[in-house]
Amino acid sequence: MNKLLIYYSLSGNGDLVAEHLRKEGFCVRKVEPKKAMPKKFFWQIMAGGFAAGIGKKEPLKAYDPDVRDFDEIVIGSPVWNGRLSCPINTVLDKTDLKGKKLTFVLYSGSGDAPKAVQKIQSLYPDAGIIHLKEPKKYPDELKKL
Ligand SMILES: Cc1cc2nc3c(=O)[nH]c(=O)nc-3n(C[C@H](O)[C@H](O)[C@H](O)COP(=O)(O)O)c2cc1C
Repeated sequence: MNKLLIYYSLSGNGDLVAEHLRKEGFCVRKVEPKKAMPKKFFWQIMAGGFAAGIGKKEPLKAYDPDVRDFDEIVIGSPVWNGRLSCPINTVLDKTDLKGKKLTFVLYSGSGDAPKAVQKIQSLYPDAGIIHLKEPKKYPDELKKL
């Protein structure tokens, strides 16, 4: 079975998820926004939190939405303001995930994201959801994958 992880990471937690899944045989596509996020955490929270709150689809650098070669797809997103991150909103908008075995891996400070879960369940009722508390701080969380 061909497996693909599409993910975003601003501060490295998602990169640990990618490293783990690569060892499990996943191909990996990391998305990058065209516009860099602010460097300071406070401004990241202000900008990213607000944009996620309004469901912004952040324009991406050279994103390849073709997933025809894959049967199983994992989407990895940090939780921003309780929601999916803006780069991942764009991924979902541009990628045809119909008929795929789909799992979302969310990573967050609190380990909780009811609004993200609500959105995933409304768009992809059959998708699995795995929620990790910042694996950079809690590496054992990766065992949930
Ligand atoms: C803009 C922004 C908003 C965030 N909002 C939340 C939140 O609502 N709930 C939470 O638990 N963590 C929140 N966090 C923390 C991140 O979800 C958490 O650190 C995550 O593991 C980051 O993943 P990354 O290192 O791959 O970017 C936020 C972080 C940022 C930058």
